[in-house]
Amino acid sequence: MPSIAYTYDFHRGRRLRRTAALRDLVRETRLTRDDLIMPYFVAETGPEDMVKPIGSMPGQNQLGMKAFVERVARAVDLGLKACILFGIPARKDPAGTQGYAEDGVVQRAVRALKARFPELVVVTDVCLCEYTSHGHCGLLDDDGRVLNDPTLELLARTALSHAQAGADIVAPSDMMDGRVAAIRSVLDGAGFEELPVMSYAVKYASAYYGPFREAAESAPKSGDRKSYQMDPGNWREGLREAAADVAEGADFLMVKPAGPYLDVIRQVRDAFDLPVAAYQVSGEYSMIKAAAQLGWIDEERVVLESLMGIKRAGADLILTYFTEDVLARLQG
Ligand code: PBG
Ligand code: ZN
Repeated sequence: MPSIAYTYDFHRGRRLRRTAALRDLVRETRLTRDDLIMPYFVAETGPEDMVKPIGSMPGQNQLGMKAFVERVARAVDLGLKACILFGIPARKDPAGTQGYAEDGVVQRAVRALKARFPELVVVTDVCLCEYTSHGHCGLLDDDGRVLNDPTLELLARTALSHAQAGADIVAPSDMMDGRVAAIRSVLDGAGFEELPVMSYAVKYASAYYGPFREAAESAPKSGDRKSYQMDPGNWREGLREAAADVAEGADFLMVKPAGPYLDVIRQVRDAFDLPVAAYQVSGEYSMIKAAAQLGWIDEERVVLESLMGIKRAGADLILTYFTEDVLARLQG
């Protein structure tokens, strides 16, 4: 073998990768149980003990009220710290009235959870699409256009009803302009000054929501959501959306989806001081599940790597359907 005469002192990066303990010592990004928020679909379309599998999201279910509370109890035992609730109402109408009904499915679910798990952080998704017969996130005019300002009132009513049920955080996902200000004003007016708003600030019109719309039975009956959700090519516009929500009083900023928008997460993280949440959405979940079922990837490792990537991009919190699966494998 010829001996190599090194002309420069090259970088020996492998020194810090030699053993598992060394790698642990120098890891820059950590995933903990405190970072994760588990979404649940609570339905009043069947019996209280219903566990109805969602075909497009293997492992996820529409849950009747009793099954839901039992499911959360198991997750809390595994270390669940936070969840976000979506409701599937028994009936829908053009104004989505079940979304802000005092005895609506989410309102009842929040009461049930807070009575049993006072420590659990209960977030509620504030939107109308699961409750409207047309499936849009706001009121429609006669031509089928989504009306902005009249919708704000209903969103604020929805948020208030969640607050009155005991929600710890309300999370508007509708993408109407001015909704954070409207919600903040109604909450403050009713004495909920201390209730945080987690705004789905930078939410794209994404094909990755497909499986969710089956899960929540919330697909629009006509058209799409492109007149209110963002165009996937735009990141500067995302910063404008985030700035508007900060000005309106948002306490958290969310970017959604997560995996295909890691650059946007980083931009939002660097531009604002607020905690940043990222939503690893249904399509991201289902793609990993599908490839794993085919035996093409190692599910456990890909899941952790996908979450690590989202944190490394700058997310402080991750909403992910994998929360229950990974809780047991996380240290703290
Ligand atoms: C409701 C809402 C949606 C999601 C969260 N809240 C669907 C949509 O906007 O169409 C998507 C979540 C997911 O895909 O996992 N507006
Ligand atoms: Zn919606």
